[in-house]
Amino acid sequence: MSKSIDEIRQEFLNFFHSKAHQIIASSSLVPNNDPTLLFTNAGMNQFKDVFLGIDNRSYRRATTSQRCVRAGGKHNDLENVGYTTRHHTFFEMLGNFSFGDYFKYDAIRFAWELLTSKQWFNLPQEKLWVTVYATDYESYNIWTNDIGVPLNRIIRIGDNKGIAYNSDNFWQMSETGPCGPCSEIFYDHGNHLLGGPPGSIDNDGDRYIEIWNLVFMQFNRQSDGTMLNLPKPSVDNGMGLERIAAVLQNVDSNYDIDLFKKLLDAVALVTGTNNINSKSLRVIADHIRSCAFIISDGVVPSNEGRGYVLRRIIRRAIRHGNMLGTNNTFFYKLVAPLIEVMGSVASNLKVQRSIVEQILRTEEEQFNRTLKRGLTLLDEELAKLNPGDSLKGETAFRLYDTYGFPLDFTLDICRERNLDVDQTGFKSSIEAQRKRARESRNFRDYYSNLLPLEEISYFLGYEQLKHQSRVIAIFHNGHPVDIICNGEEAIIVLKETPFYSEMGGQVGDQGELKAASGSFEVIDTQKYGNTIGHLGKMSYGEIRIGMNITAQVNEIRRQSICLNHSATHLLHAALRQVLGPHVQQKSSLVKDKYLRFDFFHSKAMKLEQIRQVETIVNKYIRRNISIKTEILTLEEACKKGAIALFNDKYDKYVRMLSMGDFSKELCGGTHTSRTGDIGLFMITKESGTAANIRRIEAVTGEEAIILFHQQNNLLNQVTQLIKSDNQTIVNKVRTLQEHSRQLETYINKLTNKYAIQQVLSISHNVRNIKGIKVLVTQLDNVESKVLRIMVDHLKNKLGSAIIVLATMIAGRIDLITGVTKDLTDRIKASDIILHIAQQVGGKGGGRADIAQASGGKNTHTLATALASVEAIILNNF
Ligand code: ALA
Repeated sequence: MSKSIDEIRQEFLNFFHSKAHQIIASSSLVPNNDPTLLFTNAGMNQFKDVFLGIDNRSYRRATTSQRCVRAGGKHNDLENVGYTTRHHTFFEMLGNFSFGDYFKYDAIRFAWELLTSKQWFNLPQEKLWVTVYATDYESYNIWTNDIGVPLNRIIRIGDNKGIAYNSDNFWQMSETGPCGPCSEIFYDHGNHLLGGPPGSIDNDGDRYIEIWNLVFMQFNRQSDGTMLNLPKPSVDNGMGLERIAAVLQNVDSNYDIDLFKKLLDAVALVTGTNNINSKSLRVIADHIRSCAFIISDGVVPSNEGRGYVLRRIIRRAIRHGNMLGTNNTFFYKLVAPLIEVMGSVASNLKVQRSIVEQILRTEEEQFNRTLKRGLTLLDEELAKLNPGDSLKGETAFRLYDTYGFPLDFTLDICRERNLDVDQTGFKSSIEAQRKRARESRNFRDYYSNLLPLEEISYFLGYEQLKHQSRVIAIFHNGHPVDIICNGEEAIIVLKETPFYSEMGGQVGDQGELKAASGSFEVIDTQKYGNTIGHLGKMSYGEIRIGMNITAQVNEIRRQSICLNHSATHLLHAALRQVLGPHVQQKSSLVKDKYLRFDFFHSKAMKLEQIRQVETIVNKYIRRNISIKTEILTLEEACKKGAIALFNDKYDKYVRMLSMGDFSKELCGGTHTSRTGDIGLFMITKESGTAANIRRIEAVTGEEAIILFHQQNNLLNQVTQLIKSDNQTIVNKVRTLQEHSRQLETYINKLTNKYAIQQVLSISHNVRNIKGIKVLVTQLDNVESKVLRIMVDHLKNKLGSAIIVLATMIAGRIDLITGVTKDLTDRIKASDIILHIAQQVGGKGGGRADIAQASGGKNTHTLATALASVEAIILNNF
């Protein structure tokens, strides 16, 4: 019996644990502290700062099984997935790391022991091949002399096209950051498969598969390409779990391992296909892994960044579903079988299951709608081409921009028909679009390019709201200036400031910068790099660079903001309690007047859930818990159970805010000191902002009291008006509604009666024009509703007729015309009404048998207008 994938993962961790490595949990797919990276693409990502020497850990050896996504960015395998046996968008990387502890010798020795020792993986040595970086003699010697790998199975790999470090045996995480030469171990799956050994021209085949990459981290690559030495030589070894599982389970393809076999069965089932050898099955099985885990790590499909990559993967999966012949929404149905096969790795996904399914389902339904239209366009364009031709870049762009076809999607379809895509044309269309977007950039972006980013402003506003400081820069009309005078707008930069700059949803502070020579009113505070800018206007006098000033934050406003921010944390925790732990903050806005909180949840909240949340928050307000902040490392904070927001960038040290055990969040914002300060919390609105995203708006403190009073006053006014009280108001309103319904019925009856009487009194006005009964009459002060009833009665009474009635109420003319059905093909009520309405200045229209107009003011022309009806009738008959 071969080992299961779960056993292999565990055995790897056990091995390195036995070699004094600390077992560390996988980090999120969304790198917390690294804007240079789209998704976590290797085990070393979470240790990047440790390699760089910026972060210190209590251990110097670690081992992990890290979930990774390689789609988009530097390491991108998306296009290969489905076409090879070994590429994935999502995979687990088994890692062992040394942070300045052991180096090449032990890295190689450990790897060899795990792979070949009888006690561990017990692989035949003759099936293993090794590569080293061409100039890495040290590793070469270790392999040959210490390990004893025969020379014919050690291959030196140099730089591609002579470009320094551009080599399969030089690994770097992204364009910048830790990197170093590497030595790779390959497994020979046997001569029944195509492909040559590493370094040969056909090394891309499926026979010799790289299973382990031993990276000797030595450098920190800068954006200009310079290589700085890392503080200490380190090790980053990474082995693809699925690849080693294929080896140990004695199968040729990753898709034949236990995990994928079950997942492929599930794909076949939900798509209903018999074509079980289709590569589309593999694509879908791969893609559900990346999509479900990316979403459970907090990303939703969108049109930019991570959300866009996610959207591309989902869409690729859906298209492959279509190629298998399924027309149903199927992709979300794979979340449950995925959770099953991933075991303990899916514990978080399991909690989030329903929201992940919902997000996938909505995305698929939306996409299916545009897919049809896009494919029609693509088919039309492709029909014009011959094999070997290229699809115009502009068309590929239109498909992308209007129909949401990612480029790889169009490439895929074209590849199947042996057609190319003009990718350069596509890129220039995208660039043109970006240029347009750049040109419409806003004021804030403009200033971020301009402000002196090297200036560091220190924020002191957690403790102080007033501080003596010095002006270090002033900007006016986009230019640095030395002085700012009365009435002028500017951005002032101080060395230290108590003003909070807009961040994490909390708005910037307002207040005053006061110098001996003048005063500046701050209406907003923003951060530009490390510089804090105070935006506002000189109220009087002047301020110069270098002057000492007193910076005073508007305390009342700041206090209201603090209450709303602390209440936001209570709200977040209460929502998780009431709706479930899948609730994650999407974004938030914390102002002085109110707070707004957007979160992932698929359904509108019921009224009782809203009340429940409100009640919980108010309960914790009354408990008057002290609000504590602690500065910890990200890891420590996560251990203590703090909620970290997936798309925030955290520094080495984070600020954890706790309200007892009820809420723990990482937060850089300002807060009140005890929950009791919030006073009262009231939800004012619950709504949806996009698919699966709900929004809550709420007020606290003074604003909640004001709202409470307003609502009470309103209630009082109503009770007084209807002469009731708080106890009886609802019954009283119901009685009134009932009463008004009865009155309405009674009035309708009367109206009808009145209309019949009027009909009797005017029916003698009927004239005969060319054998047609025509009734044109003006009545005074008759409601248009009555006119309509009269026309119906008249039609019944006269059998076949043309009826025109006009009425004047308070100087305005209402008109109605009716033509019985037998005459409508000769003359239409709507034509007659237009003809008359025009003459009296009114507007109207309608159908062939009935039409109405209103608003006519030319009362003196009414008689002539009515008389003109005869002429139209004569014309038509
Ligand atoms: N970081 C190395 C890789 O991803 C191990 O291949």
